[in-house]
Parts: sequence; C-alpha cells; structure tokens
Amino acid sequence: MRIAVFGLGYVGTVTAAGLASRGHEVCGVDVDEVKVALVRQGRSPVVEPGLDDLVDAGVASGVLTATTDAAQALEGADVSLLCVGTPSTPHGSTDLAYLRRALDDIRAALEVARPPESGFHAVVVRSTVPPGTGDEVVAPTFTDVPAGWQIGTAMCPEFLREGSGVADFFDPPFVVLGSGDARVRDVLARLFAFLGREPREVDVRSAEALKYACNAFHATKVSFANEMGRVFRAYGVDAREVMRIFCEDTVLNISPAYLQPGFAFGGSCLPKDLRSLLHMARANDLDVPLLVGTLRSNELVVRDVLDRIVASPARSVAMLGLSFKSDTDDLRESPNVELAERLLGKGFEVRIYDPIVNPQRLTGANLRYVEARLPHLGRLLAATPEDALDGSDTAIVATSEPAVVAALRAALPPRVIDLSGRLGVDVERIAGYEGLGWTA
Ligand SMILES: NC(=O)c1ccc[n+]([C@@H]2O[C@H](COP(=O)([O-])OP(=O)(O)OC[C@H]3O[C@@H](n4cnc5c(N)ncnc54)[C@H](O)[C@@H]3O)[C@@H](O)[C@H]2O)c1
Repeated sequence: MRIAVFGLGYVGTVTAAGLASRGHEVCGVDVDEVKVALVRQGRSPVVEPGLDDLVDAGVASGVLTATTDAAQALEGADVSLLCVGTPSTPHGSTDLAYLRRALDDIRAALEVARPPESGFHAVVVRSTVPPGTGDEVVAPTFTDVPAGWQIGTAMCPEFLREGSGVADFFDPPFVVLGSGDARVRDVLARLFAFLGREPREVDVRSAEALKYACNAFHATKVSFANEMGRVFRAYGVDAREVMRIFCEDTVLNISPAYLQPGFAFGGSCLPKDLRSLLHMARANDLDVPLLVGTLRSNELVVRDVLDRIVASPARSVAMLGLSFKSDTDDLRESPNVELAERLLGKGFEVRIYDPIVNPQRLTGANLRYVEARLPHLGRLLAATPEDALDGSDTAIVATSEPAVVAALRAALPPRVIDLSGRLGVDVERIAGYEGLGWTA
C-alpha cells in the first residue's frame, strides 16, 4: 500500500519506518523541515532503540521518503495515518490544533493529488484524541471531496511506549479499529495483518476512549504502588516484597476482576480495610490522596444513582438484589442497603427482592447492621421479583439472577437502572434502561 504518515515524532517515525519495513511505500510528512531532512538522510528525528536502523533501511531501499508537502505524500496514497501531537492546553483540555491543521492539509491535498487506483483513501487517526473527535472533527472534514476520491475515516490508537517504541509497534497489546466504515476497517485489517492480532472492531468513540482508559490505569497503578510504599515504609515493611507477591495473584489482583463499571464496592472487608489503611496513613502524617479518593469516589456512585431517581418522577422503587454481591446474604456495608435506606428516608416506596437474604436467618454483626439501617426489612422484602416489580415505576437491579432477568423481561418497568451491568440485551433494549458506565 501507499501510505502517508503525518507527524514524524515518536509515533509517526516508528509507524512510518515500521510499515516501510513491511514493504509498504511510506511517505512521512512533517511541518518541521529539520525532521524531514533527517529522515531523508536515513536518520530518525527521535531517539528510539533500533529506529535509526529501521529508518536507514527504509530510505536506502527507496520505500521510505519524507516531505513537508502533504500533496506529494497523498499522491496515489491508500491511507493517511495521523500521528501529530495532541498536547494539553493550559486548562488541561486537548489541543487539537495540530490535528485540525493536518486534516486541512489532507483536504487541500485532495484537490491536487492523484487518487489511488481504487479511488478509496482511508484517513486514520493514531494520535490520542478525546471521544467525539472522529465524529465532530475528522469525518466532517471530508463530507465534500473532489471527484475521483472517496474518503473513509477511522481511529486506530497506538499503544507504543517511548524507549521501546519499535519493539512495541511490532508487538502491540491489541489492534483496535474504530470505524463505522467497513472499507476502512478492511484497509486497516490488511495493513496490520502482519502483527498477527485479531483486530478489535469497535465504534470510533470506544477506540478513542480506550487509550485514555489505558493511560489512566497505568498512571493509577504507579500511584497505587507508591502509596502502598509510603504507608508500609512507616511500618517497617518492604513494599517491594509485598507488591511482588501481590502481583502473583492473577485471579483478583492482576486480572480483569473488579474492572467493569457498575455499582459501588461494599461488603464486610473492602470499606473496613481501606478505612484502616487510611488511618495508618493519618497516624503517620502521610498523604495518600488516591486511597482517600477511592472512598470518596465510591460514595459518589451511590449518590449518582440516588440523584437520578430523585430527579425523576419515580415514587415507587423495586430493588432487585440487596447484598453487596450475588450468592451472599452478608449485608454489611452493602451499598444497596445504603441506597434503600436513603430512598426510604426521602419518602420513596421501596420493595426489595433478594434471592438469598432471609431476615429470619440473619445473625450477629450482619443482623445488627441491617437492624440499624433497615429496621423493617421483613416488611420491605418481596417473595418474588414479580412481587417487587408489581406497581413499581423504577427497578434498581443489582443482580443478573435468571429469575430477576425473566421478571424484568415480562414486566418491562418504565425504568431500569442496571447496577449489575450484566442484564443482557433483551433488558437493555427497553426504552427506560440506564447503565452506570455505558449506554444500551
Ligand atoms: N509518545 C508516545 O509514547 C505515544 C504513544 C502512543 C500515542 N501517542 C500519541 O500520539 C500522538 C503523537 O505523539 P508523539 O509523541 O509522536 O508526538 P511528537 O510531538 O513527538 O510528534 C508530533 C509531530 O507532529 C508534527 N506535526 C504537527 N503538525 C503537523 C502537521 N500539520 N502536519 C504534519 N506534521 C505535523 C510535529 O512537528 C511533530 O514532529 C499524540 O497524540 C500522543 O498522545 C504517543
């Protein structure tokens, strides 16, 4: 394929040289003449292990060229890959000026450049851009193009890390193709086929969002480990050893566990032990803002659901699932109990169904907790999900138990707030469905 790569920085140079090494004809474009000149001399404008050799080999064999002229790069090109910078503005928003300029350069180049034989050209963003950029900035640039050109757009995020950019380019965690255009997805699937990864085809916004989720998670991991280190050092603990063993747990720690958006955490251990850790930090005058923020963030989840219900005309609520997770009757610090308590306090009619919770069988700390929070639990409990849903205008669903899903399907309450995230498309299709971190 003939490929134009816009931006000869870390991402662009690695991408250009990497694709050239796979036999594609690649032309790098940059507004910086010095970078263009360096590439033409077979040298990388950025320092990355192995990149000088890759650029040199591409230029020597004639498959890698560079220019400041977008029209020259677009000549007969099948794909444009946008790898320009997207820095922060002073307010923290993403500065899309370089991206807009590169898009305008491509649009102007279409007026003079010769289209590829197929007539189809894919404009693909590899820069990190906020969700909505593809729909609101990229696609509208090409609503009206010169005769002979057909343009499709996509987001294909890049996951390389500086310092191991070349190695990462050839061994990415995944290939993500975000486009509503099957022709672009096909071009990209062929372009990146050499990586041997089954491409993840998603919508543009998900592809844009994914990169932020990845980087935010990596940053959070660093701060988490550092906060553990800060607290444990005060207790004479070697946090490196703790975290080494911590990482050996690939079931709960280094795993997909707890990484789906949904409702708040609760139960008899997580809130208690987090509070205890915060106390240890305070006792030693240590700041642990991430851990402090974790409790605060959890409270916000409960408040968000409450606010949604209070702001609606709802008056009668069915809560399906009361314990903090399925298959336990432990109600201690269940955020669902807290939600029920607050709804009752605000005068809502609340009916509760939980397949496991039986007030006659609750004992000890569990019983004391419920008696303090929901003293009339026995009267609120319905024997079946159908009974709980009967006459209710809102269902708050914290379980994906089959009986609950079946009852929801049959009753179709006007509004379903899904705390479980696992109800399935038949429930998600109803008009009043609301997820917490997703839309149906
Ligand atoms: N650096 C990384 O490790 C990394 C990894 C993945 C994704 N990203 C993302 O990729 C994007 C690029 O990052 P980078 O580190 O390669 O940036 P960079 O600053 O190293 O390079 C950007 C290049 O774009 C050029 N440029 C600006 N406007 C242009 C235009 N109109 N036409 C052509 N070239 C133009 C600049 O001159 C510069 O050489 C950013 O969105 C970044 O967030 C970076």
